[in-house]
Amino acid sequence: MGFLLSNYQLTICILLYSLIFCFSSSSSAHLCHNDESTALLQFKQLFSFNCSACDCSAYSAPFTDHWKEGTDCCAWDGVTCDNTTSHVIGLDLYCNCLYGTIHPNSSLFNLVHLQHLDLSLNNFNHSQILPSFGRFTNLTHLNLNYSSLSGPIQSSSREDWQGNNFTNSIFHIQKLQELSLAGNRELTGKLASFINGTLRHLRHLRSLDLSSTGFTGELPNSIGQLENLEELYLYDCNFSGTIPTSFGNLKKLRTLDLGGNNLTNGQFPSSISHLRNLEELYLDDCNFCGTIPTSLGNLKKLRMLDLGWNNMINGQFPSSIGHLKNLEELYLQHCNFFGTIPAWLGNLKKLRILYLPGNNLINDQFPSSIGHLKNLVELKLADCNFSGTIPRSLTNLTRLISLDLSHNNFEGPIPQLFSNFSQLQSIDFSNNQLTGPIPSSITGLPNLQYLYLGSNSINGTIPPSLFHLVNLTDLDLSSNNFSDTVELDTFAKLEYLFFLDLSNSGLSLTTTNSTPSSFRNITTLRLSSCNINKIPEFLKTRMEWLYMLDLSNNHLNEELNPLCNLHSLEYLDLSNNQFGGLIPTCLGNFSGYLMVLNLQSNNFSGTIPETFGYASSLKELDISNNGLQGVLPRSLVNCTNLEILNLCHNFIEDAFPFWLENLPRLMIIVLRDNKFHGPIEQPRERLAFTNLHIIDMSHNDFTGTLPSKYFESMYSMMMDDEDKSSVNYMGPRYGYYYSVTIMNKGLEMKLIRIITIFKAIDFSHNKFHGNIPISIGRLKALCVLNFSGNGLTGLIPMSLGDLTKLESLDLSQNKLSGEIPQQLTKLTFLEVLNFSQNNLTGLIPRGGQFETFSNTSYEGNLGLCGFPLSKNCGNVQIAESPTLPSSFSHNFKFKFDGFGWEAVLMGYGCGVLLGLLIGSCIIQRKEEWLVRIFGVKMCQHGKRSKKVWKKLAHTKSIINCL
Ligand SMILES: *[C@@H]1O[C@H](CO)[C@@H](O)[C@H](O)[C@H]1NC(C)=O
Ligand SMILES: *[C@@H]1O[C@H](CO)[C@@H](O)[C@H](O)[C@H]1NC(C)=O
Ligand SMILES: *[C@@H]1O[C@H](CO)[C@@H](O)[C@H](O)[C@H]1NC(C)=O
Ligand SMILES: *[C@@H]1O[C@H](CO)[C@@H](O)[C@H](O)[C@H]1NC(C)=O
Repeated sequence: MGFLLSNYQLTICILLYSLIFCFSSSSSAHLCHNDESTALLQFKQLFSFNCSACDCSAYSAPFTDHWKEGTDCCAWDGVTCDNTTSHVIGLDLYCNCLYGTIHPNSSLFNLVHLQHLDLSLNNFNHSQILPSFGRFTNLTHLNLNYSSLSGPIQSSSREDWQGNNFTNSIFHIQKLQELSLAGNRELTGKLASFINGTLRHLRHLRSLDLSSTGFTGELPNSIGQLENLEELYLYDCNFSGTIPTSFGNLKKLRTLDLGGNNLTNGQFPSSISHLRNLEELYLDDCNFCGTIPTSLGNLKKLRMLDLGWNNMINGQFPSSIGHLKNLEELYLQHCNFFGTIPAWLGNLKKLRILYLPGNNLINDQFPSSIGHLKNLVELKLADCNFSGTIPRSLTNLTRLISLDLSHNNFEGPIPQLFSNFSQLQSIDFSNNQLTGPIPSSITGLPNLQYLYLGSNSINGTIPPSLFHLVNLTDLDLSSNNFSDTVELDTFAKLEYLFFLDLSNSGLSLTTTNSTPSSFRNITTLRLSSCNINKIPEFLKTRMEWLYMLDLSNNHLNEELNPLCNLHSLEYLDLSNNQFGGLIPTCLGNFSGYLMVLNLQSNNFSGTIPETFGYASSLKELDISNNGLQGVLPRSLVNCTNLEILNLCHNFIEDAFPFWLENLPRLMIIVLRDNKFHGPIEQPRERLAFTNLHIIDMSHNDFTGTLPSKYFESMYSMMMDDEDKSSVNYMGPRYGYYYSVTIMNKGLEMKLIRIITIFKAIDFSHNKFHGNIPISIGRLKALCVLNFSGNGLTGLIPMSLGDLTKLESLDLSQNKLSGEIPQQLTKLTFLEVLNFSQNNLTGLIPRGGQFETFSNTSYEGNLGLCGFPLSKNCGNVQIAESPTLPSSFSHNFKFKFDGFGWEAVLMGYGCGVLLGLLIGSCIIQRKEEWLVRIFGVKMCQHGKRSKKVWKKLAHTKSIINCL
């Protein structure tokens, strides 16, 4: 019985078990519908696999690889089926390297049961968003972000809508809850009509993302109709106008992002204060000025607030923010706040991230309130004018992961307090005046990945414990006062190092024991002025990732051939060494990435290799100050990206390289001091050298007349209306700028950065003859014009009076005759004038800047008379000396407080900035100031650099001058 029973029980058990088994297996292994399987396979076939065409950076093998005919499509990666009906209800092909067009009859549209569709981060090659999408009647989530879609989105016609023709337009997808179209720049249309024609019909829409698309127009009032929205992202479009009050209707909004639009300068929109459910608010870079209303304090649920890059002119820190007790992230960078950081900031106990860079906390002491924010993980206080020692009040912020105190005036040693900051991964103390050695509190931080201590006065030796920071990827010790000799390979112990900058650190690096296998992961290696006298072995091997190598200002005197393995280089700066021999041909063959090649001031000889013609990315070629001979290789005409070509001071013997006239980007060409010869003749093409900013052909043997036709096509030199609200430097990418040495105002001058509004022509010391062409007067943007030391004859053209930006005019040592045109007194920026050693006659004009020139400007012209010469003009009436021009008196009014910087006092227009540049060449410390004000901010903020200038509004003297 016992046996029977148990047998019976066993049977039941087996039965039950198999029932359960069958049931569960039938429900998990849904068999996909044949037509859907076919549709998916057909869809896959339409695309090629092309990851480089997609914006996706973190792709793995595409899902579609595993889609095989005859297998259950419900089991395929990226495909989701309904548990009961087995229909395909989800398709997720995010980041799958799909490249191709979506056609109206694509089999994709047969998957009519889809509820979730994500095709983002693929490349659909300008496909339009087709009406066929309307077939997905049950779709709730549609994500097409960053997938190269284009065109207007066809909105529904009224007839279709009324006739319930739901097959006809994407936005008859009545159930749609989430729509993401961000990053499709070619999607165009007015937001107003998109809302009216389409969006307002989508009653269930909760989330809408149109960021970085081509939608334009004013933000329409009708946006208030989208009442069910909980998330709205309109970042980085071109919306204009103001924020409409109807925004206040969107009561369910939790996230609102309107950053980076072209909104009209306006007050902070108070309608936003009605959105009581807001948790995240991004209004960065929106042109708001004025103060922040107290009503902002109503948004009690706010966790995230970004008001960065707005112009809260002369604003105090808005106390309303102090009421936002739930804030976890607060971004207020570059908001023009001034004064002290208030105590209430310490009440925001939940704050994890705080950004205050670039505010005008002039000479403020460090606010103790920040020390109360114990939950902070990220704290950025760059460029806030803080001074004193690094404050003790930071002691409690032991949860910090990232701390940025760069670009302030902190001084004294780095305190020990950081030893408790075990989470710390990133430290940026660069650009302060910190002294003392690198403390053990920093080298003891086990998780440190980024350590930036550049541009301080840190001294002493490199502590061996630094090399225990095995997680370091970025190390910047540049521009300090270390006194130590270190074997470069010691740094190679940090095996994850990507970025190493030891330039001007005071360190001497030995490389004699370097091994070929060091620094396998390095991408950027900057070792300028490190007393290196031997190329390290590892640089002679293939370095897969190295794209920037700076060995300038060392004592290297080898040949370059060993560097021929560095195929991935984009920047190579070997200037100011004693490298010799031939320039190796391999430099031109570098796999097409090479952008910057600076071989200035070495001992290279021989000819310039033809292979540069293959370096199609080349933007800067500087081989000045060497012993190069022969002709300029014609292959350079293939370098269509070339922006600066500097051949100064070699022995190149060639005719004028007219064949460069077509290079569309060429901005600077310096042929000074070579053996170029012959006439320049006329341009071969109608558009020649149209983008040129600086041309220096001085000290050669050019003959013939001045090339008047070229002056007629140098359009860039005619544009004197460039946007002065931004200072732009020439350079291929942020962090690296072109520099060039030119003769200006009688001095050899190194422009360490070249602002784009600086335009110059120097044809001095050649054998040009004939007249100065009248067409020169069209180059209205010229700052410097030098025709001295030629055989020019005839009159000084009156049209020179049109060069209203001119600061330096040198026509000395020619055979010019006649009177000095009165029109030149219009040149209010003219600071240097040299007409000496000509045959000029008559009365020197009076007025304007002419009151400031001394007799050296005119000497050697026997026929000139009047002020400032002692020679009287006899019976000629001498005009009353007019009052000083305003520009002149201004020249002596500017004073940069605390800088006492005479070089600034040079005039208006490009002169002020040029003055800044010159000043920076004169005194190193001033350069740092310059870099601080202009350069570094630009390089830190990339696309938003246009905002930098606005901040400068506070440096009143500069903005007044412009
Ligand atoms: C379908 O089944 C999966 C796993 O078997 C389960 O995670 C999911 O919740 C089910 N979905 C529905 C709608 O029942
Ligand atoms: C859409 O969903 C409804 C309700 O869930 C369902 O009855 C209908 O069959 C679905 N339509 C399609 C095409 O899947
Ligand atoms: C729906 O629109 C399509 C395309 O315009 C058209 O071919 C079809 O006849 C329309 N159907 C109805 C019922 O109006
Ligand atoms: C909205 O669209 C309808 C037709 O669909 C049109 O009649 C109306 O004028 C539009 N309104 C606005 C404000 O564009």
